Amino acid sequence: MTDGMFHLHILSWVVLIIVFFASYSNFSDRLGPSKYFKPLLMVQRLFALLVIASGAYIFFDVDQTSPALYGIKFLSGIITIGLMEMTIAKKKKKKPSRTFFYLAVLFIVITIALGIHLPYGVIPKLF
Ligand code: HEM
Repeated sequence: MTDGMFHLHILSWVVLIIVFFASYSNFSDRLGPSKYFKPLLMVQRLFALLVIASGAYIFFDVDQTSPALYGIKFLSGIITIGLMEMTIAKKKKKKPSRTFFYLAVLFIVITIALGIHLPYGVIPKLF
């Protein structure tokens, strides 16, 4: 496979993480949403779909060296995106969202580490 799908995957999760932080901080517990919140949330969901689509493409395309680890990568990617959604859902209901926010950050780190640990893609080639 060419590197294209990996580039799309990386571009998508980098944008997703930035936009997730942006939408999180554009909803104030006291004042509610800023005028940027809705469009940011739309962009967040668009990029979440791109991350899933590019990730799933790679998942089914590569010759999986360790199906267990690939399964865990798939799951942790989905859980990360789920936690982002749950964090924002809590915010919207004006319920405590900090725990979900930190869990999302934790899973972002785990997912990136797993992605880099797995053999293919462009990042392992840098080392
Ligand atoms: C926010 C969520 C996600 C993050 C931060 C993330 C991060 C990464 C990173 C850093 C890589 C290594 C890229 C490279 O070296 O070129 C990677 C690869 C990969 N990702 Fe994701 N990913 C996420 C979501 C997903 C999802 C939802 C799926 C599946 C549907 C997925 C499937 C894969 C697969 C199969 C690889 C290739 C691993 C390999 O063969 O080396 N990822 N991801």
